[in-house]
Amino acid sequence: MFSPAASRNVKHWLFGYGSLIWRADFPYHERRPAAIRGWTRRFWQGSHDHRGTPGSPGRVVTLVSQTGTLCAGIAYQVAGDVFEHLDHREKNGYERVAVDIHLDGERGAGPRRVPGVTYIAPPGNEAFLGPADAEQIAAHIARASGPSGSNADYLFELAAALDALNVEDRHVTELASRVAALEKAS
Ligand code: BEZ
Repeated sequence: MFSPAASRNVKHWLFGYGSLIWRADFPYHERRPAAIRGWTRRFWQGSHDHRGTPGSPGRVVTLVSQTGTLCAGIAYQVAGDVFEHLDHREKNGYERVAVDIHLDGERGAGPRRVPGVTYIAPPGNEAFLGPADAEQIAAHIARASGPSGSNADYLFELAAALDALNVEDRHVTELASRVAALEKAS
């Protein structure tokens, strides 16, 4: 696990691809659209503490290694102590992983690559649920909820945040339209 918390006074780049895109409950110096290569966003992680419960976990995103892919999100420039806060917020199977972050260019400049950190829940962690058909994942999300709210709201917030960034993620849009249809039908 990458461990930048020791260097509290140094600025680090943090890459967010899930709830960090729309919910940054920590101070940051800069927020920039960004992407990382070789990873894909998937609703394959169980949530026992936010969008589900230990008896009935929700499904939230993690990153899955996939050559040739690009995952778009948001990069934050933060102080090292922000990781202590996030380690607690995301304690349900996520680990800090060092990644190269491609920051979108600013004021006509090209993209810039910086070293950074993201949180990944790897296969085999205690809450990992893994792949399933879109129909099964959508049905799971439609019925789950936990202390942070409904699993469906988490999915809809993510879909809206990606839309606002002009990011197309077919896994997310397909699930959002399936869950919306399930809600309409119920
Ligand atoms: C994120 O939004 O990048 C994130 C997702 C899951 C756990 C921690 C962070």
